[in-house]
Order: sequence, then structure tokens, then C-alpha cells
Amino acid sequence: MNLPHFLADDQLNKEQILDLIALARDIKQQPKNYAQALAGKSVAMIFEKPSLRTHVSFDIGINKLGGHALYLGQQNGKLGERERVSDYAKNLSCYADAIVARVFSNDSIDQLAQHGSVPVINALCDVYHPCQALADFVTLAENFSELSKVKLAYIGDANNVSNSLMLMAAILGVDFTLVCPAGYGPDEQIYNKAVSFSAASGAKFLLTHDIAELGQQDAIYTDTWISMGDNANVADILATFKPYQVNYQVMAAAGASIVMHCQPAHLEEEITTELFDSEMSVAFQSAENRMWAQNAVLVTLLTD
Ligand code: NVA
Repeated sequence: MNLPHFLADDQLNKEQILDLIALARDIKQQPKNYAQALAGKSVAMIFEKPSLRTHVSFDIGINKLGGHALYLGQQNGKLGERERVSDYAKNLSCYADAIVARVFSNDSIDQLAQHGSVPVINALCDVYHPCQALADFVTLAENFSELSKVKLAYIGDANNVSNSLMLMAAILGVDFTLVCPAGYGPDEQIYNKAVSFSAASGAKFLLTHDIAELGQQDAIYTDTWISMGDNANVADILATFKPYQVNYQVMAAAGASIVMHCQPAHLEEEITTELFDSEMSVAFQSAENRMWAQNAVLVTLLTD
């Protein structure tokens, strides 16, 4: 597969996403076959924001592929302040075989890719979280025999996670319903992309502010109502989003069998503790799949 970077879901086509899902599942089934895939290769990982799953799953995942991961936190100051992002990218490209970056602004991801000479992987920015979406579709493929027939809904704040999910769903032909309070929907540009990808793939795509319009769903997804870097009045947010909490009643109304969450979960806010801890929750399956999905991306970008 000819993939120079892994930056945004809308830069991938259906075949590439399906190939990455299949590869992730194969690496998960037969990790020994990939134990030397990144031998002699080093991956520099820039983190501007906190991370548990992404940091650990990349570090240990790269180790499982025989490669070396280097963590770069904020010790060199804010990205773009001590030196330009373009110079950061050029310097890292002197040593590393790939760059993984979790950044505040999508523009930093684009600059790293534009100015570096090695593949760049978006490990979350303000607009996208493609590693998470890929892992979530691996999880859906494990739970439902026909991915294209899955009905997926996201309830809550339209953010990087919902953007990536709805774009990937639209490209794959998966029906997607986005339920969020008025004023907390997706940016127009991302929404329009989801509409046009859905039209091309034949997927149904619905954006609604009315949770009563949720309809029948197979899987329901939620994420924090306040993302890292958001400037929000917590009391206002909690009041606005209260009717959008994912709980047993919502699951039953939709007839959904699984609930998904990228974590960290804010229990009793966007999801109840009992539902998050229930058999219906695949949050930890998705957390594990982060590693296999990212390893599929690394193997694809760094090997022939
Ligand atoms: N939307 C969340 C995802 C965290 C993994 C955030 O950006 O903070």
C-alpha cells in the first residue's frame, strides 16, 4: 500500500482502511511474524498533551515490532516556540525513521509532514484522532461479522474522536448517527466531507440534536464532553450535555449491543459507571486494539 503518512482519516480510501484493519488483526493473531518488522528503526514520539494509552501502546507496540521508540515531551518547550515546527521536523528526520505526534493544532501535524522527510503519524490533534478510529473499527470488525452492515452512533461533543469516526464510517460505508447538543456539532468542513463520503459509499449519515432521533443502533460511542485544550465553563457544559449521557436506557432504546469509549472516561458524566463497567463495554478491547492498529500503520509506512 502506498501510504506516505497517517495524518487524517479523510486522506485514506476504503481499500486502505480495510487493509489496515486486516493487517492489525493479523498482527494481533500472529505477533511473532512481525517481531522484526521495525528492526533497526527508531520512532520519535512528540507529545504536547497528556497521554496514557497512546504513549504506552506506541512505545510497547514499537518494541513488539523490534523497533525503538523515543518519547519527546515538553522538555524542549512548546512545539514551534523554541524553534519552528519545520526545523523540528527536519532535525527529527536526521535521526528517526518516523514521527508520531500528539499536538494541539492540526497545522503542526501538516507542517511536520510537509517539512520532515520521514512518515508522520497523527496521534491526536484538535481535528482528528485517526489511530483511535482505526482501533475502533478493528474492534467493530471483531464484534460484528459484517462491518459494512454495522450501525454506529456517537452521542456527545463533536470532537477529534467523532470527526475521525464519522469520516472513517462514511468512507467505509458504515451508517453513522451523530447526536450532539446544538452548538456542539462538527465544523462545517468536516461535516461536508462526511456527507460527501457517505453519498459516495452509500452510507446513511445523520446529524441530530434530538436524542429521540437516535434510532436502532448496533454500537454507541461516547467521549468526554471537554477535550484537552478546550476552553469551557464546566458547569455550563455539564448542564447542556446532561440529556446526552450514555446509559442503560439509551442502550436499550437503541437496541445496541456494545458501548464504546476512547477513554479517559468521565464516569457519571458522558457515561454511567455501571455501563462503562458492564459486559456491553468494549473500551478495553479498543484500548488494546490501539496497539495493533498503530502497529499496522507503522508496518505499512515503514516496510515495503
Ligand atoms: N477528545 C479527547 C480524546 C482523548 C483521547 C481529547 O481530545 O481530549
